[in-house]
Amino acid sequence: MQRFPESFGQMLRGFQQSRVLLTAIELDIFTAVGDGADARTVAGRADTDVRATESLLNALVALGLLSKSSGQYSNLETARLFLVAGSPADARLALMHNVDMWRSWSSLTDCVRAGTAVGWRSVEERDDRWTEAFIAAMHHNAATRAEQVAEAIDLHGPARILDVGGGSGAYSIAFCRRDPTIEAEILDLPTVVPIATRHVSEAGLSDRIHLRAGDMLTDSFGKGFDLVILSAICHMLSHEDNVRLLAKAHDALASGGRVVIQDFILSDDKTQPVAAALFALNMLVATKQGSAYSEAEYRDWLDQAGFRAGERIALPGPTDLVVGQR
Ligand SMILES: C[S@@+](CC[C@H](N)C(=O)[O-])C[C@H]1O[C@@H](n2cnc3c(N)ncnc32)[C@H](O)[C@@H]1O
Repeated sequence: MQRFPESFGQMLRGFQQSRVLLTAIELDIFTAVGDGADARTVAGRADTDVRATESLLNALVALGLLSKSSGQYSNLETARLFLVAGSPADARLALMHNVDMWRSWSSLTDCVRAGTAVGWRSVEERDDRWTEAFIAAMHHNAATRAEQVAEAIDLHGPARILDVGGGSGAYSIAFCRRDPTIEAEILDLPTVVPIATRHVSEAGLSDRIHLRAGDMLTDSFGKGFDLVILSAICHMLSHEDNVRLLAKAHDALASGGRVVIQDFILSDDKTQPVAAALFALNMLVATKQGSAYSEAEYRDWLDQAGFRAGERIALPGPTDLVVGQR
């Protein structure tokens, strides 16, 4: 009998490694390991079964996240840095979004049959724990990228920005930090605005970044902006809604103003890069009509919305910018 290629076997069972990590995050196992502990102590702290916890800990050792010596488990570097309460780059809340993604990805087969997310719920319908993790994940992604975007766009004040679906406010914060004469308005859902308010206040920018609770699809954007930011927004929407959204952005801009789209951008045949091809499915399982789109599609929508030819700006990492000018 012919054997499967090794890479095929790894792809087939890749979910096991992912699930071990997600369960450890969900149970806060790395915090329970703390400065070093045996399986019984970890199980006591995590309120889990001792035998099962030992198997989980051993797998985490095999995966290189923990070490084990004389029955004592210790966090290795990645775990110590990101996965322990109070660690220097504690990312546990943001990583909980991956735990939530597992649930939606488990419905992929049904979604492919149905052509849309089955059991879809809007951001507004989610509980606080889900929303906090979702926005923390967005904020974590934006940690380095927001500065790169602000640098690439190089906006000079005095200027007004509209940050549509601004999430944590990371992009508005990055632009405002670069120039004290820039002001921004973040439009997001009522359940997300309190989280953005917190981030903006922590950044000391409450006097220049204003928060507006509303719906980007139905509410007016206002007028006279120099920049409209659509970061990680277009992938939630259908072609038709994207054209409508870009037309609203066009109306909201002053002459010469720019719209900045940040997103995963697929090759023309929609098969590359891998991260974008997978992200299209992430949107299939998580939204009614979202997807990942190609540069040609973004250019076409910008054109339909009345913008001058879109310019693509490559960024480090999985997402790029497409910029249109009014
Ligand atoms: C993927 S997140 C992107 C957040 C942020 N722009 C970033 O790049 O970090 C999408 C954002 O759009 C917001 N959103 C979704 N539907 C919306 C709607 N109908 N009106 C306003 N905001 C919405 C979500 O609450 C969330 O903050």
